[in-house]
Amino acid sequence: MKIVTIVGARPQFVKAAMVSRAIARHNAAVNRPGPSIDEIIVHTGQHYDDNMSRIFFDQMQIPRPKFNLAVGSGRHGETTGKMLADIEGVLCDELPDWVLVYGDTNSTLAGALAAAKLHIPIAHVEAGLRSFNMRMPEEVNRVLTDHVARLLLCPTRAAVENLRREGVVAGVFHMGDVMYDAALVFGDLAERQSTLLAELGLTPRSYFLATVHRAGNTDDPQRLREIWRAFGRIASPEMPLILPLHPRTRGCIENLGPAFAWDGNPSVRVIEPVSFLDMVMLEKHARAILTDSGGVQKEAYFHGVPCVTLRNETEWVETVEAGWNTVSGAVEASILNAVARCRAGKPIAEYGTGHAAEAVVANLVGFEDKAEMA
Ligand code: UD1
Repeated sequence: MKIVTIVGARPQFVKAAMVSRAIARHNAAVNRPGPSIDEIIVHTGQHYDDNMSRIFFDQMQIPRPKFNLAVGSGRHGETTGKMLADIEGVLCDELPDWVLVYGDTNSTLAGALAAAKLHIPIAHVEAGLRSFNMRMPEEVNRVLTDHVARLLLCPTRAAVENLRREGVVAGVFHMGDVMYDAALVFGDLAERQSTLLAELGLTPRSYFLATVHRAGNTDDPQRLREIWRAFGRIASPEMPLILPLHPRTRGCIENLGPAFAWDGNPSVRVIEPVSFLDMVMLEKHARAILTDSGGVQKEAYFHGVPCVTLRNETEWVETVEAGWNTVSGAVEASILNAVARCRAGKPIAEYGTGHAAEAVVANLVGFEDKAEMA
């Protein structure tokens, strides 16, 4: 069986790492159920800086992409269109049995569209998530991808239910979350290999960790100002705030003007984007995490750290219901309030037991094209 995997952005490298490992285990199994899998990885080049891309492949031992489309940066339509054309070319040559896409980036949508036009079945890992905010490019990508996918692999029951409400029931399965698999595998490795806490002079539970990269925050000066001011108020010499900064956000903060200078509060410690192992290490030992990333919200829970989500909604509703996550919006006072109140919550069963990637592979191999519900 031939599978073409499409990746392009950081979170997809992490998810694909887990599924590629599960494919290797499947191929090596003595009593393998079903055919062996030939996986061909296509990197769209959406993320291209070494610390946004190469370092993930190296550290997580992801098989080298056979194709790198080097699409680079640009407007959404422009880059999605370039990817679509190039992926179509790859698929015409490779003629896979499945196209495997992850999450909700422009690379996800381009891969799904290219496959749909060629009538190649699409498997979508992380199907069914919804923010119900169509102004998010990710929401557009998710909805469209789900409606052309044949196999919809959902991380949560809420995702299954979202799909059912949209009339999508065939090929829908609750898998658990491959990010949880990654947290288990790389959590221990990070402890052994990452030296970042020592390099930054940090001790466990004595710092906040923050990430900001969503267009809805970075491209709205009012929201970004509020977030930046809140960071300045939260950070102190005893409890600094560590901010591994996405390149997009760096430029946007610089555009806010002199009142928002980098050295406004030196306890807000801005660092370059970090590798996955270093990020896991920072997450595991933070006092609390402030983020607008979907993946980081869940990783906070996986590592038992309270989270404040710098958005007006979240797709990961179980983290809020279980008490781990507070959705603060992007208003200084609400962020401060949420940080003061955030605490540990209850366990969440939804994300599985660390075997979601194996379930993805089993579904790809064993899929029969019939109406099925999780
Ligand atoms: C993308 C995804 C987002 C995901 C995030 C993970 C879309 C619409 N968004 O957002 O869902 O959560 O990746 O990190 O697909 N840049 C660099 N170097 C890089 C990559 C990006 O400098 O290696 C800069 C460029 O200025 C680029 C900008 O960041 O234009 C935005 O990159 P892009 O991939 O469009 O979106 P992200 O914000 O990274």
